[in-house]
Amino acid sequence: MAPVTSLTASVHQRLATALSAALPEADADPLLRRSDRADFQANGILALAKKAKANPRELATQVVARVESGDVIKDIEVSGPGFLNITITDRAITQNLAARYTDTDGRLGIPYAKHPGTTVIDYAQPNVAKEMHVGHLRSAVIGDAVVQILEFTGENVVRRHHIGDWGTQFGMLIQYLDEHPHELDHKAAAEDTAASGEEAMSNLDRLYKAARKLFDADEEFKTRARRRVVDLQAGDPHTLATWQRFVDESKIYFFSVFEKLDMEIRDPDIVGESGYNDMLDETCRLLEESGVAVRSEGALCVFFDDIKGTDGEPVPLIVRKSDGGYGYAATDLSAIRDRVFNLKANTLLYVVDARQALHFRMVFETARRAGWLNDDVKALHLAFGTVLGKDGKPFKTREGETVRLVDLLEEAIDRATAVVREKDTQHQLSEEEIAERGAQVGIGAVKYADLSTSASRDYKFDLDQMVSLNGDTSVYLQYAYARIQSILRKAGEAKPTAHPELDLAAAERALGLHIDGFAETIEEVATEYAPHKLASYLYQLAALYTTFYDKCPVLKADTPAQVENRLFLCDLTARTLHRGMALLGIRTPERL
Ligand code: ARG
Repeated sequence: MAPVTSLTASVHQRLATALSAALPEADADPLLRRSDRADFQANGILALAKKAKANPRELATQVVARVESGDVIKDIEVSGPGFLNITITDRAITQNLAARYTDTDGRLGIPYAKHPGTTVIDYAQPNVAKEMHVGHLRSAVIGDAVVQILEFTGENVVRRHHIGDWGTQFGMLIQYLDEHPHELDHKAAAEDTAASGEEAMSNLDRLYKAARKLFDADEEFKTRARRRVVDLQAGDPHTLATWQRFVDESKIYFFSVFEKLDMEIRDPDIVGESGYNDMLDETCRLLEESGVAVRSEGALCVFFDDIKGTDGEPVPLIVRKSDGGYGYAATDLSAIRDRVFNLKANTLLYVVDARQALHFRMVFETARRAGWLNDDVKALHLAFGTVLGKDGKPFKTREGETVRLVDLLEEAIDRATAVVREKDTQHQLSEEEIAERGAQVGIGAVKYADLSTSASRDYKFDLDQMVSLNGDTSVYLQYAYARIQSILRKAGEAKPTAHPELDLAAAERALGLHIDGFAETIEEVATEYAPHKLASYLYQLAALYTTFYDKCPVLKADTPAQVENRLFLCDLTARTLHRGMALLGIRTPERL
């Protein structure tokens, strides 16, 4: 179905046309904003008049005289030194919403981006044989939301989970597993992902500790382990096969955590550090031949004028160590080549902890010097801040250890389940339903708390606040959605139907205009990679709906037409909430 022209776009168009007629030479942006005084305010005329050395109020008056109101603009007036206040007709609001409502594919009339490209997004990148912690939560949650949002705009999105699956630490593990081949055997049934995941992680953890202990105590084991690193890098088949067992075991665990997170992670998108192994030599050769990298004390390095250590000495990016080994930089540089030249990306996004900012700055600058990145192919570190405990310090257990992601999710689900149970005063939900809703509310709460502050900022992990029913939480939004569904169920014969001939109450207009603004929000959120702006849009939507519901009786409205029109507003609000929440990876249960 054809996209719906939003009221903002339509008013913008009308004003721009009038402006360029009044001021032919200007590149005329009227700077249209939603406003409290009227429906919209145009603030651009002042600056345009100044540039053209014209009188702003006069220019504004000319624009008003020339603007084509059609059946969209009810009222347009000059205010202050040269602002325009614009009021929309009730009919245009309802008609616009009705057009969105007929869009049954869930897009609500929202257009695709005009110039979609290919974005490779690097997110949800845990490390093999290691427990996932709260930092991996942020990358997964933010990354998944950005994926959904970009795909919604029609962007071709390639997902990459750059897992840490390579390095010298595997020598010790591989050697130990070879000597104790049954350490990774499973008791849990393969279908039970949660149990298998737990078991996989506890196997890996036990094996890791045992291998470490032996490594520290036994010189001969240490020698054998070191030899395995060499074998691994040389591609010895048996060593690789044992290494693969670690990767597979870890994936069982990762998938169980992602399932708990209610997030789709696809196996082919997992391309870890090891995936670029064959490119490392060539990456170094290209960098050295082009002079981007130079040898320094046996290592291959890239230097930067503005990056120095505390001692004032330059801090290089080490592409190849003096012993010939490759590290994190070499794999990332090779991954850039793969993403640019094989996957044909225009944009590379990295959803990674802000503490890796320097690494990415150096890697991107190196790639630019090498010509792999340029004005047409850009890389961006979407840095996220630290998750803090209630005390404002980095989130730790009481024992001072990093918090296991699974424990944290379990606790959120437990809390949410208690809230759902408590709210179900009429005992309408079965135990199974309570458990299902509890998971949807709990995981939603964790995701929303993460997504509702701008990614770059730190945030406090506060479960009490996260599952609170009032305030800026996902539960609040989920309840708004469920309440609408319950009204729709109670409507009986009355069907949601738009009646453009009806006058609208102030609360209906405010709700309607906000719903219409979803398109602009999506565009902004997608171009800025800013899911928190979507969260705040949805929160406002729920708040405007609450006001509407308080002020405007729905099922008891004055006339049957009004009942239908208000049901229609309810239903469209619900669909918008549903769509927006889905883009954030959050469920909207029909009953709560
Ligand atoms: N595995 C890394 C970690 O746990 C994150 C990887 C980020 N992505 C990248 N291309 N370097 O910190």
